[in-house]
Amino acid sequence: MAASSRNQSKSGMLVFDEEAGRKLEALYLTDEAVARRQALRQGLQLSPGECGLYIGSGPGLAPCDIARELGPTGRLAVVEKNATMLTLTERRAARDGLLDRLDLREGDAEALPFPDGVFDFVGSAQVFEYVPDVARAVAEAFRVLRPGARAALLDTDWQTLIWHAEDADLGARVAAAWDGHLAHNHLPRHLKLLLSRTGFRVERVEPFVILNTDEGPNAFSTMLLHIVADYVRGTGQLSPVEVDTWVADIRHQIGRGSYFFSLNYYLFVAHKPD
Ligand SMILES: C[S@@+](CC[C@H](N)C(=O)[O-])C[C@H]1O[C@@H](n2cnc3c(N)ncnc32)[C@H](O)[C@@H]1O
Repeated sequence: MAASSRNQSKSGMLVFDEEAGRKLEALYLTDEAVARRQALRQGLQLSPGECGLYIGSGPGLAPCDIARELGPTGRLAVVEKNATMLTLTERRAARDGLLDRLDLREGDAEALPFPDGVFDFVGSAQVFEYVPDVARAVAEAFRVLRPGARAALLDTDWQTLIWHAEDADLGARVAAAWDGHLAHNHLPRHLKLLLSRTGFRVERVEPFVILNTDEGPNAFSTMLLHIVADYVRGTGQLSPVEVDTWVADIRHQIGRGSYFFSLNYYLFVAHKPD
């Protein structure tokens, strides 16, 4: 791994700073990301008035969606490692009039700042894949749930990524460099076992696929292309010319009618036995 750049931590992981927050916000406002958040909420089966925990707020869209569904008597605690993301979440919640339903905390999924058995549900999307000690994070989620309560976790298998490019070798090198942006690039394969070993009863595992066969201005992969290209440039594993060549190759597929982006996420719905 090359020396870390502005958009990377020392370990190479993506840094969620103000600029990353803005890019993530644009990505998360796409129809595909809205549907992905909806899939998580459906997994959680929320009822008004419940008290839950959301781990890893990002720019705040997901916690605000959940808080809205919980209604005025519901409460959602939010634990987010990154202060900038927490500020973006606070701003969004204030704008949406939801701040009084939220308990925003800077903290780590590996050490949740709550007592045992207090929540009706725990939700998290694309966060455990960033957590180095993911078994500990799963155990923490289990600990803070009351008996009978449920968890819905959604994570990405980056090894399912298809982003069609003429130069497949170059595409594979970009994907390999991008893999450094998180701690576990194919966590879903291990999550069912991790959940069961921790004591969860896993009820269902479902794929959620994002598929773009056109690269419109508001398509999910259009936004992601900038994020991936910037990150990979920063790794120094490919030269800037190689990264630009890859982007041009992807874009070239649009004109040919052969644009193809596909990526699988997996939703795990489980509960803590009574
Ligand atoms: C890819 S974003 C997903 C945001 C949000 N869950 C969503 O889907 O809209 C990952 C988020 O998890 C946060 N995060 C990463 N590691 C974390 C940890 N160990 N504990 C809490 N939050 C973490 C990051 O700061 C970032 O805000």
